[in-house]
Amino acid sequence: MVGLDVSSLIRWISGREVLLGGFRTRFRDREFEVEALLGDLFRFEHVGVVYGPLGAGKSTFLRLFISGVEELGGDVAGVYINYDGAVVDILYRGVNAANARDAVVNSVLNVVVSLSGASIGVSAALSAITTLVRRLFELVRGWGVDRVVIVHDDLDRWLTSRGLGNAVIGLVGLLSNLYEGGPASVERPWGNKYSVTYLALSDYTAVEVANRYRGKGGLHSMLMWNLPKGPFTELILELVGRRDVDVELLWQLLGGNPRALSQLATAYGWSVDAWLRDAINEVIKVLNEEKERLGLGSVDEVLNTVIRRIGQDTGPDNLVLNTPLHAEPLLRNNILIGISSTAISQLPNEPWIGRHYAYQSPTYYWIIKAMAVKGTISIEPKDVINPVRD
Ligand SMILES: Nc1ncnc2c1ncn2[C@@H]1O[C@H](COP(=O)(O)OP(=O)(O)OP(=O)(O)O)[C@@H](O)[C@H]1O
Ligand SMILES: [Mg+2]
Repeated sequence: MVGLDVSSLIRWISGREVLLGGFRTRFRDREFEVEALLGDLFRFEHVGVVYGPLGAGKSTFLRLFISGVEELGGDVAGVYINYDGAVVDILYRGVNAANARDAVVNSVLNVVVSLSGASIGVSAALSAITTLVRRLFELVRGWGVDRVVIVHDDLDRWLTSRGLGNAVIGLVGLLSNLYEGGPASVERPWGNKYSVTYLALSDYTAVEVANRYRGKGGLHSMLMWNLPKGPFTELILELVGRRDVDVELLWQLLGGNPRALSQLATAYGWSVDAWLRDAINEVIKVLNEEKERLGLGSVDEVLNTVIRRIGQDTGPDNLVLNTPLHAEPLLRNNILIGISSTAISQLPNEPWIGRHYAYQSPTYYWIIKAMAVKGTISIEPKDVINPVRD
């Protein structure tokens, strides 16, 4: 592996230009992730699932990681396919570059086209994706490299948006089966190369699916977290320009999430109050769901059953493990995220992160805490902000 070591890859990736909402900025940090993922890549052949908070920077990181592997890899080829949005983004270097590129693009586009039809079912979707995966591996066989890493990014969200979320179950099963090399598939469609496939999943059910196949074909999940405090602070200072903002407050509310920062800037014009009002409504929506399930009379009653059990100690594990609330609605609505898998990021030592669960956004942690302190869901942004500032 000429040149493909942790420090060269970090050097290659660091400072690349990225788009954050309407802003152009530099890619920050992620040294720890480069080292972790490179280590994972060369441990053994397997399917890996990368997941983490919405907008944490998974796609940006994986795309740059693969670009770097491509550039520095020598005998390693990388393929990155992003299914998000109308444009399918494919990045890789084949040996016979032009042909290989066309072949991959065509295979992907076939899947895109076949899945655009209104009435396609899960089995047809799965068969289209299976064809794509097999086609990719056939191509890979012909490449003059020893190792190949393939990233499928956002396939689950793309399928889910077409009502085909269940196809992901089959896909993960198929891939783990191929890597397992069990009776169902003694062949290695990628020939005698060393191959690793990563799936970046954001959808909650997809993560559940990954848990279901854990171990098969070496399948394991890897948690990627938001940016650490230092690089995130730099990013805030760059974006705010000369506006007066409370950097510590933004860290406490956004927890290093770059997408959240750009939304605060663009969609909310830096109004933390407006941001909090929307987030408060998100929390109430989930508690309202729980009201129905628990058969209680009001959302405040739901809150009170929570307070009776855990008081104001509203850490994520406590919220799920020690109250009548179910994890499922909190996870499905992206209030919480399960974090029991291996992390490829260093998690900050903050109260919104537990051992089993974390708040997807610390904003929700502070909101639920403020509700617990006031004993009601009727809270104002200042009820959230003041304790954070203290
Ligand atoms: N390390 C970074 N430094 C600066 N900006 C970043 C960094 N990582 C991501 N961003 C920016 O943050 C935004 C969100 O990133 P990205 O889309 O990669 O997140 P994601 O985790 O893939 O989101 P989703 O959960 O929606 O798939 C993008 O605008 C991206 O350019
Ligand atoms: Mg993404």
